[in-house]
Amino acid sequence: MIKAAYEKYLLPKLLDTCCSTKPVNYQRKKIVPYARGTILEIGIGSGLNIPFYQKSNIQKIIGLDPSEELCEMAKKCAKKNKIDVNFLINSAEEINLPSNSIDTVLLTYTLCTIPEPLDALDEIKRVLKSDGNILFCEHGTAPDLNVQKWQNRINPLWGKLFGGCNINRDIPNLILESGLKINKLDQMYLPSTPKIVGYNYWGNASL
Ligand SMILES: C[S@@+](CC[C@H](N)C(=O)[O-])C[C@H]1O[C@@H](n2cnc3c(N)ncnc32)[C@H](O)[C@@H]1O
Repeated sequence: MIKAAYEKYLLPKLLDTCCSTKPVNYQRKKIVPYARGTILEIGIGSGLNIPFYQKSNIQKIIGLDPSEELCEMAKKCAKKNKIDVNFLINSAEEINLPSNSIDTVLLTYTLCTIPEPLDALDEIKRVLKSDGNILFCEHGTAPDLNVQKWQNRINPLWGKLFGGCNINRDIPNLILESGLKINKLDQMYLPSTPKIVGYNYWGNASL
């Protein structure tokens, strides 16, 4: 009961705050404006990417997230920014959309949390058009062994506090393991961010 109340009332606000720091928003600016056509945002959360969309590039945005509370927050953000978003309260492991229907899949700070990321990537492959693009920005395993050691130690507790978030996933390998092609990959520690959660991978991938 306490867990349910935490997840309903506290966690959405906590995620919204942790995911809206200046360095994280700077990362959003690097990839979100490239989303075009029919866009599927996986794990839209509280809608923190919404202000960074380039309106003239958008045909339609579908925002998927299993959390009703976060979708409610995203709805308010969409309204404030005068952007239409169609919400799908759904998990990425089973996307309720037709195959070959999406031009851009946007994934920011979500592959860390999806319980079965390879199943989700399979679904992303199914719904993506053959010439579609996947834009991603995720945090994950750091290159330094000492940081990795702490990531692995803290991960079980971290997941309990932050809605199942994993701080030690090897994001590029997950994407490659799914059979997707990475066309561009950048990586670095975000400034002013603890190293265990601050190593970011961003770029784009395709079928
Ligand atoms: C750390 S938040 C990031 C939210 C947002 N993408 C952002 O950049 O601010 C992780 C998000 O993943 C969502 N999530 C959790 N499990 C999921 C699943 N199985 N499929 C899709 N999204 C999921 C959570 O509800 C949450 O909105």
